[in-house]
Amino acid sequence: MKADQPTLPRILVLASGSGTNLQALIDASRERDFPGQIIAVGCNRPNAFALERAAQANIETFVIDHTKYGSREEFDGALMAEIRRHNPDLLVLAGFMRILTTDFVRAFRGKMLNVHPSLLPDYTGLNTHKRVLEAGDKLHGVSIHFVTEELDGGPVIAQAEVNVTPDDTPETLAEKVQEKEHILYPIVVRWFCEGRIQLGSDYVAFDGEPIGKPTRLPDN
Ligand code: GAR
Repeated sequence: MKADQPTLPRILVLASGSGTNLQALIDASRERDFPGQIIAVGCNRPNAFALERAAQANIETFVIDHTKYGSREEFDGALMAEIRRHNPDLLVLAGFMRILTTDFVRAFRGKMLNVHPSLLPDYTGLNTHKRVLEAGDKLHGVSIHFVTEELDGGPVIAQAEVNVTPDDTPETLAEKVQEKEHILYPIVVRWFCEGRIQLGSDYVAFDGEPIGKPTRLPDN
């Protein structure tokens, strides 16, 4: 683990579960030229395996257990206070399964990324793999987007495609999509830390120019 490097952008990762995306980011951040530092990992579930992954990497962790709060506003208030204490430049949602309040989202506008397991704007919400199979789609994938007030609706930065094959189940699709997530998320976080991507009014700018469409990696 790199020592706290004051000049590198400070990344705070929020997760709820197994944390395989967190692991991909930890691994990427160990590369010598990685332009950011993961300064803390926060979870809303005390037993999330993501906490263990962070501890293994000597990254500070915190838990704000949503079951201990009477309302979404109170939970988000506590989460925001803890996040502010760490003064991050970037919030990375990595399987963070909580809907955030408008106030929270506005507070981190342009500084919060999310990974969603579909080719947005298709299939916002949950159970994306099952829904893709039920619809008979041949193409599925993952999107990395800026978080805005609209759930899974913020401008998309990049996507990776996954071909759906006749033998796919929700489980095999989840696996294939996650494999792509682990490649794509570190790339996008790297771009953010290098100052290459910004959130405009309702678009993404890359190197200062609005992008018409998200960058898309084809399946191979
Ligand atoms: C990821 O596959 C991510 O796409 C999904 O949760 C999983 C977390 O896995 N996120 C969403 O569904 C957000 N709506 P991980 O804990 O192993 O990184």
